[in-house]
Amino acid sequence: KNIAVIVGGPSTEAEVSRRTGAAIAGALQEKGYHAELLELVPDKLASQLQDKNIDIVFNALHGHYGEDGVLQGLCEMMGIPYTGPGVMASAVGMNKVMSKCAFQGAGIATAPFAYYFNTQDEDAIAADIIRRFSLPVVIKSAGQGSSIGTVIVHSEDEIRSALNEAFKYSNSIVAEAFIDGDEFTVAVMDDMAFPVIQIVSSTGKYDYYSKYAPGVAKHLCPAPISPELTKKMQNLALDVFHLCHCSGISRVDIMTDKEGNPFVLEINTVPGMTATSLVPDAARAAGIEFPDLCERILKEASV
Ligand code: DAL
Ligand code: MG
Repeated sequence: KNIAVIVGGPSTEAEVSRRTGAAIAGALQEKGYHAELLELVPDKLASQLQDKNIDIVFNALHGHYGEDGVLQGLCEMMGIPYTGPGVMASAVGMNKVMSKCAFQGAGIATAPFAYYFNTQDEDAIAADIIRRFSLPVVIKSAGQGSSIGTVIVHSEDEIRSALNEAFKYSNSIVAEAFIDGDEFTVAVMDDMAFPVIQIVSSTGKYDYYSKYAPGVAKHLCPAPISPELTKKMQNLALDVFHLCHCSGISRVDIMTDKEGNPFVLEINTVPGMTATSLVPDAARAAGIEFPDLCERILKEASV
């Protein structure tokens, strides 16, 4: 079978995707599969998949086109099996306004938030944020990953520039209460939650730099927390996975407050698989080596 590992494209996370895809293609080749990397050129993809006789698409795209349902829709129309969740799960998972509204509606604990659109007056948005939240507050682009378009605002005079930054990437944004505590993530595959990872960054922040510069963020796995909190977070992650109709592997990011209460930040339906990414470490802690993980994701691929 011919497997195309699709990477790159116009998304802001293209470089991360290339690293994710290279790791996946290498792992599949190691397992004896015929897997080739394919750089995404949106208007050429359909004909490339046909010309190359691709049997399965391994989706290694992060962000727009690959993680938001667009690639999934194309593959469905072409009848080509693809890894990971379908159109709806991808679209909801990639958009923080939609996913946080879904979490809230389902009673899944998520950080208190408000959302805004670029059709609204920015002074009015800033005033509303100041009225609703105490500082610091986190401003996030709705449709981005890897912390791109995310700003932690510590003083009122920083709000306008944070709004500009967030609206640069999406036409909707989320303002979210800053959860002052610890950062965790839980990967879910099939009906199994992997061991919880606690993230400890030497810079005190888990931003783009600390996510991808080697050695900056430590992944403590299994996280040094009580069995009760572990279970609570794994159940939260499973609830999110099921609510969003995910498949393949997804990663649910969680913060705890000072009292140890967990709040879901978001779900990543095409989680990073780079050398500094979280999922490969969580899988290893679950006893699944990276090539086996990639093979399992591949085998689940379906239309
Ligand atoms: N959005 C990046 C790739 C992640 O969540 O791992
Ligand atoms: Mg994300």
